[in-house]
Amino acid sequence: MKINITADIKSTVCDILVINQFEGEKTTEELANKYAIDEDKFEGKLGTTYLLPTYGKQAARKILVLGLGKKEELNTDKFRIAVYKAIKKAMQMEAKKVAFEFTGVDFNWAEQFVYGSYMADYSFDKYKTKKDKKVEEIYVNCDEGLLRRAEIVTSGMKLTRDLANEPAQFATPSKLAEIALGLGLDTKVYEKEDCEKMGMGAYLAVAKGSSQPPKFIHIKYTCPNPRKKIAIIGKGITFDSGGLDIKPPASMLTMRDDMSGAACVLGIMSKINELKPDVEVHGIIAACENMPGCSAYKPGDILTAKNGKTIEVDNTDAEGRLTLADALCFACEQGVDEVIDIATLTGACMVALGNVAAGIVGNDCDMVHNIINAAKEVGERYWELPMYEEYKDSLKSEVADMQNTGSRWGGASTAGLFLKEFVKDAKWAHIDIAGVAFMDKPMNEFIKGATGAGVRALINYISK
Ligand code: BES
Ligand code: MG
Ligand code: ZN
Repeated sequence: MKINITADIKSTVCDILVINQFEGEKTTEELANKYAIDEDKFEGKLGTTYLLPTYGKQAARKILVLGLGKKEELNTDKFRIAVYKAIKKAMQMEAKKVAFEFTGVDFNWAEQFVYGSYMADYSFDKYKTKKDKKVEEIYVNCDEGLLRRAEIVTSGMKLTRDLANEPAQFATPSKLAEIALGLGLDTKVYEKEDCEKMGMGAYLAVAKGSSQPPKFIHIKYTCPNPRKKIAIIGKGITFDSGGLDIKPPASMLTMRDDMSGAACVLGIMSKINELKPDVEVHGIIAACENMPGCSAYKPGDILTAKNGKTIEVDNTDAEGRLTLADALCFACEQGVDEVIDIATLTGACMVALGNVAAGIVGNDCDMVHNIINAAKEVGERYWELPMYEEYKDSLKSEVADMQNTGSRWGGASTAGLFLKEFVKDAKWAHIDIAGVAFMDKPMNEFIKGATGAGVRALINYISK
């Protein structure tokens, strides 16, 4: 799909011209007059569409009216979703060229238009012999700078979504490392032996049950006089079977998405040379599989993380925090000001917030709130969870400094407190995307499957 800027939408040659109508405004009558037709049937509810009968008076072009809901209630999120719906409708109608003309939309909608459009264009059909039909050309009149920048972001999201949608047989730790090395950035991949030397006993324990070798990935973007230095760590469990504490089939089914955090890091880093933020960015992924093989780590094992802290394994399915523990230690050693980890970490976060919002915790109020606001601006929802000290009680171990799992209750907060033990001298935020990284059915601008969670939000955050 290609988006073209055209000042003269009226005379653009296209299959469908999309025009908008607000709910409760009798604009179809005006529209009918404008296009010399006589219909007035459409209510303009948000995201609904109505094909205006043009009685041959508009040559080959069809006119699709897009409802934007009540004018005073329209916001950037609603606008984006409406654009998505319009393009999906155009696809159903097998249109190839679609022009858009918006009237009465008061905010600068260029970015949201791009997000909505590319979300509608997205499909994961590489393994299907019959491909989805797509819109090829879009014509619109908007701010070109904003449009092109949003295109860079959506193209990062596409990589993220593709990787998270890929079956685990393809998206292995080695594959993630190969992709990272191909980004044209300063990238180092640490092998198992290197990680042993670095003392990453928590991460390596998780990798033990799999025949896929672990790959610890460090991608670095530098710029002259960086305003600050940030590390973004993505959970990179390329398949989470649960390990010896194996998951039931229904819970395991989508666990190829357990590297969505890693895919987010790769999506961001793949575009960083084009985005050129004035910030140093380290992308870090401790990639491995969590499998119940004969050398798998076992419940009751005691692990030593990179910072020397010992962890009793009380559940092998709480593996993400073990891999993140060593990654957090590594990130803090890079001398960064801020560390953000993004992870499909807990089912508990999904129970708390559903698939509507990600959970966020951190050790610095301002940083957490700035991330929440940056996310909101681009259409992602992050909700702060508490990190009361009491949650930590359940992480107490009789035999080690802590255990990895703790109580079911408040599980997302407990996981946050566990991670905090591995953060040294940096501002830190942890984003739990377990609920939002992967949709089990279409929602808003997403089809079933990976959503690219975190890409829009974190690019916006690092660009500020
Ligand atoms: N990868 C899962 C969390 C998850 C659940 C992600 C659902 C996406 C959707 C994580 O490794 C996990 O298994 N967590 C356990 C932790 C428990 C054993 C403390 C969970 O949430 O059940
Ligand atoms: Mg698990
Ligand atoms: Zn997991």
